[in-house]
Amino acid sequence: MTLNIGVIGTGAIGRDHIRRCSKVLQGSRIVAVNDINRDNAAKVVSDLKLDAKVYDNGHDLVKAADVQAVLVTSWGPSHEEFVLAAIAAGKPVFCEKPLAVTAQGCKNIVEAEAKHGKRLVQVGFMRPYDQGYRALKQVLTSGQIGEPLMLHCAHRNPTVGEAYTTDMAITDTLIHEIDVLRWLLDDDYVSVQVVFPRKSAKAFPHLKDPQIVLFETAKGTRIDVEIFVNCQYGYDIQCEVVGETGIAKLPEPSSVQMRSGAKLSTEILTDWKDRFIDAYDVELQGFINDVLAGKLTGPSAWDGYAAAVTADACVAAQLSGEIVPVTLPPRPAFYNK
Ligand code: NAI
Repeated sequence: MTLNIGVIGTGAIGRDHIRRCSKVLQGSRIVAVNDINRDNAAKVVSDLKLDAKVYDNGHDLVKAADVQAVLVTSWGPSHEEFVLAAIAAGKPVFCEKPLAVTAQGCKNIVEAEAKHGKRLVQVGFMRPYDQGYRALKQVLTSGQIGEPLMLHCAHRNPTVGEAYTTDMAITDTLIHEIDVLRWLLDDDYVSVQVVFPRKSAKAFPHLKDPQIVLFETAKGTRIDVEIFVNCQYGYDIQCEVVGETGIAKLPEPSSVQMRSGAKLSTEILTDWKDRFIDAYDVELQGFINDVLAGKLTGPSAWDGYAAAVTADACVAAQLSGEIVPVTLPPRPAFYNK
């Protein structure tokens, strides 16, 4: 069986997902595309030689009879309305993060989905599909290092542009750790504090960089995440779990070890796109397979809501310097795995 997909938003990630679904993955074809910049959408169709119709409006695309599932890859502020439209049409929808730009927007989606009575939404958090994080989770689940007590994590980018602001360290950068660490630990956050070390002279004057985010989880695990977006040397994701009987570390991306010029070295990636490129493939193939099998299993609207609530608490903690509670209502039974 082949799943007919319509895509709203043909910018950077939209184009890339269209390429995946039409050229790389199994079981899907792109039949409809839309972008507020119509030329953008038409260009993707011609560049990739797709047999797809260009729609002037995302809502018409959602309603189109031949569209069986929707990918929402437009700008964040437009996600909520298109996801709600897909739910209203009873169509499965994969929405790039963020699910909505406010926690209330995510809650609206959770409520609409629950009312529909069946999971229809997957959020584009791809780290749970990364081979390294999966291997790390397997070690934790196997009990080989006992219960996780502490996590030391880092999210480092070489540089960021002038438009990047202090709160974006949470909403654009940490948001991936917020999701993947909940998934890794099968736990929820209860509080957060943000502290600011000495500022790097390499950061723009308006940006506080680096930052350290300190979480406590419901089970009492403590997590520190360093966010350092002008670290200069590369794109580097670290995650070390200290358990009761041992330590488990996220594997480094594979790279050739070199002996040259009296140095032993391995390369470090510099572009985030290269770090998780395989995870995007696995993530979307998972969505396609799940839709065809009739049951979604990837990151849910509830996960999108939990991430938004946590991000709001982190931003409040940045501003106050205090320990801020993360208050999430109990997960509705609808979302129990
Ligand atoms: P982009 O700016 O390259 O593309 C967004 C596209 O959406 C543009 O072509 C724009 O014209 C279109 N658009 C905006 N409003 C629209 C509307 N109402 N209807 C139809 N089209 C509309 O942005 P990019 O980098 O592709 O990001 C898109 C989304 O994907 C963002 O929410 C971003 O956070 C997310 N993203 C997620 C990543 C991940 O690692 N999971 C990586 C990159 C982006």
